[in-house]
Amino acid sequence: VEYSIVTHALIAWYKACGRVLPWRQTHDPYAVWVSEVMLQQTQVTTVLPYYARFLQQFPTVQALAAAPLAAVLKQWEGLGYYTRGRNLHKAAQQIVSEHNGVFPGEFEAVMALPGVGRSTAGAILTFAFSPVDKSKAHPILDGNVKRVLARLFCIDGTGPALEKALWPLAQALVDAAEDVYSLNQALMELGATHCKRSDPHCLLCPLKAHCQAYATSQTGIYPHKVKRPPTPHYAIAGAVIWKNNQVYIQQRPESGLLGGLWEFPGGKQEADETLEQTAVREVQEETGMTIKLGNAFTPIDHAYTHFKITLHMFNATWLSGDANTNQPFVWVNPAQLNDYAFPKANGVIVKALMASST
Ligand code: ADE
Repeated sequence: VEYSIVTHALIAWYKACGRVLPWRQTHDPYAVWVSEVMLQQTQVTTVLPYYARFLQQFPTVQALAAAPLAAVLKQWEGLGYYTRGRNLHKAAQQIVSEHNGVFPGEFEAVMALPGVGRSTAGAILTFAFSPVDKSKAHPILDGNVKRVLARLFCIDGTGPALEKALWPLAQALVDAAEDVYSLNQALMELGATHCKRSDPHCLLCPLKAHCQAYATSQTGIYPHKVKRPPTPHYAIAGAVIWKNNQVYIQQRPESGLLGGLWEFPGGKQEADETLEQTAVREVQEETGMTIKLGNAFTPIDHAYTHFKITLHMFNATWLSGDANTNQPFVWVNPAQLNDYAFPKANGVIVKALMASST
């Protein structure tokens, strides 16, 4: 394969057709890092407003390191995969304590930051540093780039085996390119806009003439799919408990799913249980409080990575029992709910409660 023909075609296409995005207009390693972490599991259009707000509130590594974790999670609210926000905060403190607050320019030091893997480190070094120092150019291999390369070269396999085969190809393209900044942006851009998982826009693709999957009508089978069991679907029931015009919320443990976010008490419906029974039982188990259920909110569907839920929430009045739990909890006026970060599925309920209180 003549790698330099591929890189030339890609880079020319990117320069003519690539989207202008805010993180493509800066070489500030802090801003580039924030963008790459936000983009790890999230699409460009979703990230745009979060990126702008985050940099406005935390314009420097120092500002991020000095902020309370709750403020960082509040900015992350709705973006999902909250471990990314916690890691970003922890990494900022590490940069302050171990690198005097200067974002590191060494690959190993960037890799050592929590939440930064090989591909993200490669992207940060390439985008922030390689334009002035070619030795900082590194290959990248995120989900989009894997798909592009697996099709371009018809590479079999899935998971770690596929990655092992693709890294040398990503490196070969880097070695063949003069402008690795544009090469890496182009690979991501192509994966996001044309080389999509289903119905790729092959007729518009700058690599049409070089793509081995396209030449053999096999774009549909590359990259090979992992066989996953169907995602389970849980019914969750819970309660917005009212006492003296305030509602009860509790904070989830730091570790685990949605760690550190606030929630209304609730949990999984068991077999042979009505949703009402689930809500009353979960509140009793989690808080020790006895409640009387009122009307139901509209059920909310939400998809997590490994399962789906339908959230059935009820208004409820407190009857007896003091909140008795190891988790932090507060009674708040609904107007204050905005000060707490909630999982995305709760957003509609929080909005409705806040609207009703004004
Ligand atoms: N996804 C990950 N990094 C990206 C970038 N720099 N531009 C667009 N999408 C991306």
